[in-house]
Amino acid sequence: MRAWSLARKCAGRSIGFVPTMGALHEGHASLLREAVSRDHVSVLSIFVNPAQFAPNEDLDKYPRTWDADLALAEAIGVDLVYAPNAATMYPAGFATYVQVERLADGLCSRTRPHFFRGVATVVVKLFNAVLPDHAYFGQKDAQQCAVIRRMARDLDLGVEIVEMPIVRETDGLAMSSRNRYLGPEDRQRALCLHQGLQRAEALLRAGERDAATVKKLVREALSAVEIDYVELVDAETMAPLERVDRPVLLAVAAQVGPARLIDNIKFAPVD
Ligand code: PAF
Repeated sequence: MRAWSLARKCAGRSIGFVPTMGALHEGHASLLREAVSRDHVSVLSIFVNPAQFAPNEDLDKYPRTWDADLALAEAIGVDLVYAPNAATMYPAGFATYVQVERLADGLCSRTRPHFFRGVATVVVKLFNAVLPDHAYFGQKDAQQCAVIRRMARDLDLGVEIVEMPIVRETDGLAMSSRNRYLGPEDRQRALCLHQGLQRAEALLRAGERDAATVKKLVREALSAVEIDYVELVDAETMAPLERVDRPVLLAVAAQVGPARLIDNIKFAPVD
């Protein structure tokens, strides 16, 4: 992988990179299209990263749709698909992990404490192999984007992190590989995540600045699902806020039947 990238870099080509765990959907496709249009060459990685799953999570049943993923990558014009295996990524004796502090403390870390260590570690390893100029991530995983952006700055990785907007189904459900786990009833119930966030956005636009009031409205909208968190945080540092006095991230996570789903909005007050 690195030899391929070095040859392109020496020829003055920029490399756009989209790291994924496969099971590609329209959200991934939007990242791939951006990489293809913005960079000279584009790389998609597919690797279901064991280090970001706890033993009780869905590593084994995480959807693997290899043929469809390759067909999508080809249709979009991706130049190379990099698909290392677990033994290559984590050889026997592997002992080095990347831990991003503070940003990786709240939100998803409360129920998934292992998660960002696994993500940060694999992303550094993938960056070291692919040597990208730009790496494209989706805003749906807003905390992941913030953690990776911080890590890229702190460790001087020389990679620009590009965050792309959330892609939604026509009824508003944020696209996710885990939406495949939802039966028809859970699929319908899952819509309340986006609906709650939309109501909160309307409240924020109308001038509400008290975080507790905004979160209460979202919690009420999520009454039919099992809430993991509803948090209003600083959009860059992920620190919890009481007042909306700077750009914020309003993020939710909930268990909907067999699927743990996340969604969010960003809001910047103009007053
Ligand atoms: O967002 C994902 O699919 C994964 O967390 C990532 C960034 C590919 C790391 O395994």
